[in-house]
Amino acid sequence: MNTSLPMINFAQPCLDDATIQDVADVLRSNWITSGPKTAALEQALSANFGGRPTRVLTSATAAMEVALEVCRIGPGDEVITSAQSFFSTMNMIVKVGARPVFVDCDLVSRSINLAQVEAAITPRTRAIMPTHFPGALVDMDALLALAKKHRLRVIEDAALVQGSYWKDQAIGSFGDIATFSFHPNKNMTTIEGGAIVLNSEEEAKQVDILRFHGITRLQDDTRDVVVAGGKFNLSDVSAAIGLRQLPQLDAFLQKRKLLVQRYFQKFPPIPGAILPPNDLPRQSWNMFCVLFPFSQLQLTRKEFRDALRQHGIATGISYEALHTTTLGRSLGYAQGQFPNAERISNETLTLPLHVNMSLEDVDRVCEAVAAILAT
Ligand SMILES: Cc1ncc(COP(=O)(O)O)c(C=O)c1O
Repeated sequence: MNTSLPMINFAQPCLDDATIQDVADVLRSNWITSGPKTAALEQALSANFGGRPTRVLTSATAAMEVALEVCRIGPGDEVITSAQSFFSTMNMIVKVGARPVFVDCDLVSRSINLAQVEAAITPRTRAIMPTHFPGALVDMDALLALAKKHRLRVIEDAALVQGSYWKDQAIGSFGDIATFSFHPNKNMTTIEGGAIVLNSEEEAKQVDILRFHGITRLQDDTRDVVVAGGKFNLSDVSAAIGLRQLPQLDAFLQKRKLLVQRYFQKFPPIPGAILPPNDLPRQSWNMFCVLFPFSQLQLTRKEFRDALRQHGIATGISYEALHTTTLGRSLGYAQGQFPNAERISNETLTLPLHVNMSLEDVDRVCEAVAAILAT
C-alpha cells in the first residue's frame, strides 16, 4: 500500500476559472438571488429537455415535493415507489401527507419492478415515482403505458441520469414530470440545486408559486398567498455556475463513460459480485455501484471501506433500503419484504467516479479492491 498517493474522492465537482469569474461577476452585480441567470438557466435546460417547461429549484428534493404538489397529491393518496432509492422519494411523499407504497426493484438494474407496481395499485393510488439508475433506465415505454392504463401521474426521479437517453429521446424530454439534481456529486452542479420538467406552462406557473411562498401578484402591486408555498428558488450565484456547467455536460459525460469502460475492463473477478448493467448505448454514468458478497468474503462492508480508505480511496453507499429506515418501519414496513432492495442495501458500494479522475485512478481502485480481497 502506498499511503503517499493522493486521495481519490468518491465524487468531486469540476469548476473552471471562467465559472469562478462568473460567480464573482454575479456577486458584484448587486443581484444575487433569483434573476436573469436563473431565467437563462431555465431556458437552456428547457432546450435540452425538448423545449418542455423547466424550472430550477434549490434541490431535487424540493423539486420532488413541488412535483407532488403540482399533481395535487396529499393526505389519503398513495404513491408507488421503489424501496431502493435515495431518502428523498420516501420523505417527500410522506411530507405532502401521502403514503409511500413500496415495491421491490430489479437486483442488477435497480429499476422499479413494474409488475409489482401494477399489483400494488389501489383506488387511492395517484402516482408512480420511480428512480432511474445509471447503466439501465426504468422501461419508459412500459412505465408510461401502465400509468396511462390506470390514469396515474408519473414523477421520474432522474437525479442520477441527466444526459441519458431512452431510445432516441433524452430523459426529461418526454413523459410526465421529471426531476433532476445539481448537487456537486451529480452530472452537473449548481452547488445545491435541482430542476423540474413539466407538461405545460400552466404547471410551470404553479411551480413558480409553490417554490416562492405561494405568492401571486395582484394588479394593484400588492401580493396574495394562494397556497402555503415553500421557499425553493435558486439564486443567480448558483445559476451562473449551472450556465457554465451545462455546455460542458457532454464532455463531462464522455469522460465519465471512459472511466466506467475502464472499470468494466479492469475490475477484478470476484465470485458473487454484481457489476452495474451496461445495457443502453446513450446513457450517462453518475455512479459505479458494485454489489460485493460480503458474507462470503469474510469481511464486513465497514472493514472493506476502511481498508479502501487506507489505500486513499473514498466510497459511498447507494442506497439503504427505504422501508427498513425508522421512518419506513413507522409506516408499517418490515425487514424481509423487498429482498432485492435489501440485498442492494447490504452489499452495495459506490466506487469513485468523477470528471477529475484519470484512467490510472480507476486502475488504482481496481488494484486496491483486488489486493484487499486477496489478504
Ligand atoms: C436518486 C436520487 N434522487 C434524489 C436525490 C436528491 O437530490 P438533492 O440533493 O438535489 O435534493 C438524490 C441525491 O443524492 C439522489 O441520489
